[in-house]
Amino acid sequence: MKKIFLTLSCSAVVLLAQEFNAPMQAYMNELAKEAKTQNASFERFDAKRGERIFTSKHVGKKGQEMACTSCHTVNLKQSGSNLNTNKTIAPLAPSANKARLTDVAEVQKWLRRNFNDVYHREGSALEKGDVLTYLINQ
Ligand code: HEC
Repeated sequence: MKKIFLTLSCSAVVLLAQEFNAPMQAYMNELAKEAKTQNASFERFDAKRGERIFTSKHVGKKGQEMACTSCHTVNLKQSGSNLNTNKTIAPLAPSANKARLTDVAEVQKWLRRNFNDVYHREGSALEKGDVLTYLINQ
């Protein structure tokens, strides 16, 4: 019985989960390996933790309170606006913008910059994996 339940819930998760392309999946695997090295109890990335990383407020680089949503907004299917330059940012949700999360170099570059903007430091492998798991499902 427990086995049947597990099988059912696993297939539900698979149906819900959006997939990364091959290079991005390879990057996710690298992040998972690194997260496991840093913490042996690491099991898998978690979209809920990712959502918290994305929406929680922190004192940013310029001393003001900010979150990832300060530029990308809470509705990732809509355009955002760069807090610093006022330039429009195309939607971050892959469901609304097919180009998102398809280019590893682009993703790495912006995660480095954006974590620094909000968290004042680079993201850990765990944080990056969690936030990307959250974002791929938007
Ligand atoms: C100061 C404004 C700002 C903040 C805050 C910000 N971003 Fe961004 N983000 C940008 C801009 C600008 C781009 C690049 C322009 C574009 O891709 O449309 C970008 C691009 C990205 C991309 C690249 C997506 C792709 O595949 O093209 C990711 C991922 C991302 N941001 C995640 C985050 C996360 C996670 C946070 C919080 C830690 C965050 N951003 C906070 C402005 C911001």
